Amino acid sequence: MKYLVIVTHPNIEESKVNKTWIDELQQHDDKVTIHQLYKEYPDLNINVAKEQELLLNHDSIIIQFPLHWFNTPFLFKKWMDEVLTYGWAFGPEGDKLKGKKLRLSVSTGGTEETYNSFVSLEELLKSVTVSFQYCGLEMLPLHVFYGANDNPKFEDIKVNSKQYADLIL
Ligand SMILES: Cc1cc2nc3c(=O)[nH]c(=O)nc-3n(C[C@H](O)[C@H](O)[C@H](O)COP(=O)(O)O)c2cc1C
Repeated sequence: MKYLVIVTHPNIEESKVNKTWIDELQQHDDKVTIHQLYKEYPDLNINVAKEQELLLNHDSIIIQFPLHWFNTPFLFKKWMDEVLTYGWAFGPEGDKLKGKKLRLSVSTGGTEETYNSFVSLEELLKSVTVSFQYCGLEMLPLHVFYGANDNPKFEDIKVNSKQYADLIL
């Protein structure tokens, strides 16, 4: 079964990190389904049935995004609100995601030192991980690229991308 990578980046053409991650994963397209929310829904109208079908067809899910105001980009929050429905993802008979595995893959503008001394990404993203745990998914450790605003070397992004592919595949 393939891995589902749900990417939420509002401006992927201008991206360095998330675009390089996608380029790396696309070399394994026999093993991954890459699903870009902003490309799929430029009008921001999410097709809930389609999203739920995609989730049902994959046992391992990766949620990939750049950190925006210490959170996910807003289209992903909309996706959570609309796709993780009562009676489907939680509540009576809401067991459709139970037992699936989920990992967050996040790029930050801030450096690793900033996050270590300020607030960790795990703490910041707790509401997202708790939401998925509430729906019965097993959370796997975060994958991160820190310091995207510090003009990182392309080589370093490539190394991180290979680590990302090795981690999830
Ligand atoms: C609207 C907006 C909000 C952002 N908020 C944060 C933030 O809270 N913390 C942070 O470390 N970086 C923040 N950034 C920087 C992005 O996380 C960073 O540019 C991105 O991870 C780089 O990935 P990319 O090369 O794929 O675009 C923000 C960027 C934008 C556009």
